[in-house]
Amino acid sequence: MLENLEKIKQQFSEELNAVNSNAELEKIRVSFLGKKGLVTEQLKNLRDLTPEEKKTAGMQVNKLKNEIEQAIVEYQKTLEEKEYLQEIENSEHYDYTIPGGRGAGTLHPISIVQKQIEDIFKTMGFIIEDGLEIQTEYNNFEAVNIPKNHPARDMQDTYYLDNGQLLKTHTSAAQNAIMKKYGAPKTGEPLRVLFPGRCFRNENLDASHENTFFQLEGIMIGDDISISNLIYFMKVLLSEVFERDVKVRLRPGFFPFVEPGFELDINCEICEGSGCPTCKHSGWLELLPCGMIHPNVLRMGGIDPDKYTGFAFGLGLTRLAMMKYNIKDIRLFNSGNIKQLRQFTR
Ligand code: DAH
Repeated sequence: MLENLEKIKQQFSEELNAVNSNAELEKIRVSFLGKKGLVTEQLKNLRDLTPEEKKTAGMQVNKLKNEIEQAIVEYQKTLEEKEYLQEIENSEHYDYTIPGGRGAGTLHPISIVQKQIEDIFKTMGFIIEDGLEIQTEYNNFEAVNIPKNHPARDMQDTYYLDNGQLLKTHTSAAQNAIMKKYGAPKTGEPLRVLFPGRCFRNENLDASHENTFFQLEGIMIGDDISISNLIYFMKVLLSEVFERDVKVRLRPGFFPFVEPGFELDINCEICEGSGCPTCKHSGWLELLPCGMIHPNVLRMGGIDPDKYTGFAFGLGLTRLAMMKYNIKDIRLFNSGNIKQLRQFTR
């Protein structure tokens, strides 16, 4: 009987090597492990043995059975891989030399607005920077005057990474690094930097809340920067973007990194002020929070607050694109729905 097992094993491996398809593999499985299969026959033969013989022979037949089962599973994986490679081999090749045309891509509406604002600010002497998306807790919070346990942290439900870092909740997270990079203005020319970026917060999604959105932040620091500079730049910004006069209102607002702080709201373009879900039925949209940079923030950025002042603003870029293109649902932006997004692009 033992000799038989060796033979069966030999025969199996020879037949397996010749297998080229799942169907052939199944045939082999049946001929060895099926009801009348070679291995099954051996199991049946055990009946005729003495209890002593049965014990050792039974162990060996079962061992062979397991080996064959295992080998079939392994071989199936090899076959799948082969099939996959074959499929790739047979698939049509993409021809990169075919000229583009109707299929050419367009810019995303957010990129269009971002570029437009960058262009305006570049002509006014601003440098464009892009801050990191993964930030330290220090940069995102402490360095902009939001220490641990400050209630302002509750407003920004944050995605923390395992290593203690986080996905930046606002573009203000780049302020400290930018101040340290450029330092206090040396030539009398104020420091002017614009830094757009993607931000992340754990939000319940609805027509005006997304967990991934874009902001665009700017700072201007010099020895004579005042609120009137701030208001001037904000007005230029909005009238250039909307290419006409937009109704705005300025009201006090609290942000730990500015003092005083303001909320600059624009009249909701979607309902023209009569109230809709996008503006939470108030007729106004908070669009441009801003203020004079808090002395603590300047100090932490290595700039002497007794010598210099500055303003900062944090524009909701996604929201601005909604206003400009009359998009009612913020979820469209990250939806990947090209048909819908295309209608806004030139
Ligand atoms: N970082 C703030 C936020 O996301 C927005 C902001 C407000 C930025 C006022 C500023 C500012 O620079 O001055 O909620």
